[in-house]
Amino acid sequence: MDISIVGSGYVGLVTAVGLASIGHRVVCIDVDGSRVDLINRAEAPFYENGLAEALRTHVRDRGALRASLDYSEIADSDITFICVNTCSNSGQNADFRQKHIKEATKKIGQSLASKRDYHTVVTKSSVVPGTTEKIIIPLLERYSGKQVGTDFGVAVNPEFLQEGRALQSFLNMDRIIIGEYDARSGSMTQGVYNGSRAPVLRTKMRTAEMIKFASNAFLAAKISFINEIGNLCKKIGVDVYEVADGMGLDPRIGRAFLNAGIGFGGSCLPKDLEALLRKYRETGEKAPLLSAVYNTNKSQPLRMVEVARARLGDLKGKRIGVLGLAFKPHTDDIRNAPAVEVIRQLLAQEARVVVYDPKAMPRVRELFHEQVEYEDSVAGAIAGCDCILIVTEWSEFKDENLFAGKVVIDGRRALDPDKASLVCQSYDGVCW
Ligand code: UGA
Repeated sequence: MDISIVGSGYVGLVTAVGLASIGHRVVCIDVDGSRVDLINRAEAPFYENGLAEALRTHVRDRGALRASLDYSEIADSDITFICVNTCSNSGQNADFRQKHIKEATKKIGQSLASKRDYHTVVTKSSVVPGTTEKIIIPLLERYSGKQVGTDFGVAVNPEFLQEGRALQSFLNMDRIIIGEYDARSGSMTQGVYNGSRAPVLRTKMRTAEMIKFASNAFLAAKISFINEIGNLCKKIGVDVYEVADGMGLDPRIGRAFLNAGIGFGGSCLPKDLEALLRKYRETGEKAPLLSAVYNTNKSQPLRMVEVARARLGDLKGKRIGVLGLAFKPHTDDIRNAPAVEVIRQLLAQEARVVVYDPKAMPRVRELFHEQVEYEDSVAGAIAGCDCILIVTEWSEFKDENLFAGKVVIDGRRALDPDKASLVCQSYDGVCW
């Protein structure tokens, strides 16, 4: 198939590479000229495990993927995936939040005006339930002058990619959810994944949108749940990781997403949870459980600073090394990263902060400028520090001997507590 992808951010570009790798011809449409140039030179605009290599294969060697600024190219494709950023910031109003998706949809509509054949438009960005019916379809009809169901089809096909292993997640999907305007739209969308062995569930459009939000809210709930259990476990001398292992043996519970620590970050779980809570407020429904999931996560990173204070006393003037800044390993993404909150707290308490991350340093510099010191190796960040905080579990930190004689606080269970307790001056887990 000829596929156009609107928006070549994280979701768009990974989806584009994934679709090219299963045999489609893909064009990424973006408004950012420098991003388009980078993709056409087979260079990755951000770090994601395996992305640079995949771009070289599909852009340069096979010619199956390219990028363009020209929205009119949409009319030459069979199906369009909307993958634009659905930014959500609690302070922004609904109009602002929907700005990108509305602009992209308007331009898709305009380019469909000249198309004679049937076309399908698929929402892949995570949008609150009802968005495709209430916003996307009316805009497509208005700007194309055509009618949904007759001239074009619409579907919702949420993405379930995990940063850091996104290309693997794409090639080994555990489910394909398709919310369809009608059967033709759904079948056209399902056809894109011909050959995949993943189970397919076809639903109404708003159901598919809700499946995405409910899934992320559930994962967030698992994390806040185990963190809350961990906070008590620490007080009463129980290892929360053993508790999680024991709980996880029950297949109804499962071990995944029960790794206690400083909580969830990233562009997805926090943002989707906020959007869902907003939807509850708009509809007058209460969500005490999901609100608690959110609040528990907000306070969890601060515990790390509390543990540091318990060890060192006043943090003013103390040199604190922060290891790992990305919200999780194998990405350079620092959006809503717990490290950012930890650094802010340390700075508020007038500590001297030294940071190191294998991939995210440029992004942290954009945020903290001269407020913190930057080191280019683990050893450099550890040397001369009064205390080391491990905030992201990059594999290069997982060596207890690196921390010999140091005061260490581990937010991610990067180290083995028994081994670390032997070699470190002191070793504390955030909730173990
Ligand atoms: C998440 C979902 O896992 C994906 O299924 C979904 O497609 C994606 O959001 C999205 O909506 O696009 P992602 O944000 O890439 O994926 O990262 P996760 O692997 O879910 O991790 C999120 C955060 O939770 C990280 O900060 C991680 O360190 C933390 N986490 C995860 C824990 O604290 N404990 C765990 O047991 C697991």
